[in-house]
Amino acid sequence: MGVDIKIEGLTKSFGKQLIWGDVSLTVPAGEICVMLGPSGTGKSVLLKTLIGLLKPDRGSVVIEGVDICSCAEKDLYEIRKLFGVLFQDGAMFGSMNLYDNVAFPLREHTKKSEADIRKVVMEKMDLVGLIGAEDKLPGEISGGMRKRAGLARALVLDPEIVLFDEPDSGLDPVRTAFLNQLIVDLNAQIDATFLIVTHDINTARTVPDNIGLLYHKHLAMFGPREMLLSSEEPVVRQFLNAQRVGPIGMSEEKDADQLAAEKDMDLPPLPPIALQLDPSNGIPRRSQRPPGEWCRENGVTPPPGSFLQDSVLAGGAGA
Ligand SMILES: Nc1ncnc2c1ncn2[C@@H]1O[C@H](COP(=O)(O)OP(=O)(O)OP(=O)(O)O)[C@@H](O)[C@H]1O
Ligand SMILES: [Mg+2]
Repeated sequence: MGVDIKIEGLTKSFGKQLIWGDVSLTVPAGEICVMLGPSGTGKSVLLKTLIGLLKPDRGSVVIEGVDICSCAEKDLYEIRKLFGVLFQDGAMFGSMNLYDNVAFPLREHTKKSEADIRKVVMEKMDLVGLIGAEDKLPGEISGGMRKRAGLARALVLDPEIVLFDEPDSGLDPVRTAFLNQLIVDLNAQIDATFLIVTHDINTARTVPDNIGLLYHKHLAMFGPREMLLSSEEPVVRQFLNAQRVGPIGMSEEKDADQLAAEKDMDLPPLPPIALQLDPSNGIPRRSQRPPGEWCRENGVTPPPGSFLQDSVLAGGAGA
């Protein structure tokens, strides 16, 4: 069913270095959210804070009525069971084969028999297309297979919330397309709350219900996909359209001279908003909204050509 994550006034620093401050957003139950942001803006730190691996300086993260930033260790342990996490590097145990890696959370957190564990592990391995690779060590398989094994492991406890830290980094475009489809199909099937950190603009434009952008030590914007994809806000516009013109420079912020030089430049028009990727397994997604609904309800004219079947193909996210 999924549960929501209510984040209020979250602030995190390491020593004197502020990573981000006053971050507030609700990750809605059962929906897919993507979090974007230049490298080093603290996306991975945010995910680690959401599962209580890092403690914020201030603020709260409330899940099922429990603030995981201030709760007792034993409550945190219980809340963590709601999560499945796909870490940035897969985080597989190098000396264990894939089967044992995927079985690990079941052996650690449940009293299931080995026969029951086998059923769950094989079901999840099948889901991510890894049947036959159970005996391989993480070092013996490709990066894409490691990601999928990490995903299988993230799913074995039937999580209510799944966090993905760059599931598509290092994957070729075809595998990224398959992985995105797998994410959408999984969301339809298990109805959990998904939060995905990615650098892939095409993923961000076609997969989620909501998009957030971390920039310059704060949450620049968070909201429905159509809101950000039609936004003229300079940072959002620049990031979601992978442009050089805009406030973001090579080292985060451009200086005043660079910005002044760009002041009179014409920006290219916003590209059409592609259709959201549909589940391929015939199961409708509970949280999916009809194309253009947010724009209509908010009196926003989407860029010309938006929501056409062809725009999915142009975006590279089609079948
Ligand atoms: N445990 C830690 N101790 C001190 N500083 C840390 C720690 N973890 C992360 N940082 C710092 O926090 C900042 C944000 O790191 P983070 O890994 O969250 O970035 P990111 O947005 O995920 O970047 P990327 O897109 O490259 O993965 C970086 O400056 C990093 O050096
Ligand atoms: Mg990261």
